[in-house]
Amino acid sequence: MPRQSILSGMRPTDRLHLGNYEGALKNWVAVQDEFEMFSMIADWHALTTAYEKSGEMRKFVREVAIDYVSAGLSPEKCAIFVQSDVKEHAELNLLFSMITPTPWLIRNPTLKEQARDLGLAEDESDLVKINFGLLGYPVLQAADILIYKANYVPVGEDQVPHVELSREIARRFNHLYGEVFPEPKAKLTKIARLPGLDGKKMSKSLGNIIYLSDEPETVGQKIGTMFTDPKRMRKSDPGDPKQRGCPVFLYQELYNKAECARIEADCKSTALGCVACKKMLSAKIAETLAPIREKRAEIESKPGYIESVLEDGAARARKTAQKTMAEVKEHMGLW
Ligand code: TRP
Ligand code: SF4
Repeated sequence: MPRQSILSGMRPTDRLHLGNYEGALKNWVAVQDEFEMFSMIADWHALTTAYEKSGEMRKFVREVAIDYVSAGLSPEKCAIFVQSDVKEHAELNLLFSMITPTPWLIRNPTLKEQARDLGLAEDESDLVKINFGLLGYPVLQAADILIYKANYVPVGEDQVPHVELSREIARRFNHLYGEVFPEPKAKLTKIARLPGLDGKKMSKSLGNIIYLSDEPETVGQKIGTMFTDPKRMRKSDPGDPKQRGCPVFLYQELYNKAECARIEADCKSTALGCVACKKMLSAKIAETLAPIREKRAEIESKPGYIESVLEDGAARARKTAQKTMAEVKEHMGLW
């Protein structure tokens, strides 16, 4: 039996950060030996919302590609490519759009939430006002996934409706034209979303992010500005980091598991102050990032390297994509 396959992707709207690493990339790296892997940089999907910043795209595509490889994705094991380099995604998107009822898109909870967050549509009836490309976001995502006949899609909770729609489109296609596509399954990542430095959702506009490419000094500075237990104004105030949701402690639980019990006790007894606590955390995070930063430096020292990785990845992806498209057209009886 051929190996099961995985299609994974992220939108290149920014450099990648710790949340992307913990919530996604780390898992991709862990499964690359076991599955046939396609890891995509979804630049067309980025355009559904960031179309006014298209001028930044080339820079971020490159940065994200370097982040992928620095974090441990292997160009030998895994086809690392840019979505727009494989035009077949657009062709399959178009064919899928013919068989996807608009109500399937309108009721998509992730799309509704995204449109609300962007201030584009308050409720469902408003969704007819958003751009055509954004409404069709999950159809393009279905094309991304199904063109590789992916069995699994590693995603967070928020992407589950999109994967569900891919399954529905696969089913509908197979029903209309005969069996071509397997139904992909979401492979949920275990860890909860890593909060930003201020305890809120990580967001570029809030500036509450640690990037994979941050230098140790930058990490130290950023951790230094973090909120702590809100009732702990001075070192002499006893803390209760778990109960009061100290964001520093949340990070300690992830990066300094072994010392957490002691940190909690010393925070409660006031033996440990926030400044020292943050220093410990900064060191731990810098330790996690060190190998990634080293790899990044190595990649950046080789001119043309990352471009050749993407070129090679696209060639490999294209081979599979073209094979699927030939099957699609054959089943549909197209010209
Ligand atoms: N929608 C995904 C996100 O916002 C990105 C993405 C695009 C994707 N195409 C995909 C993820 C295909 C998995 C599979 O994170
Ligand atoms: Fe949070 Fe650490 Fe300060 Fe306790 S000592 S409140 S865990 S930062």
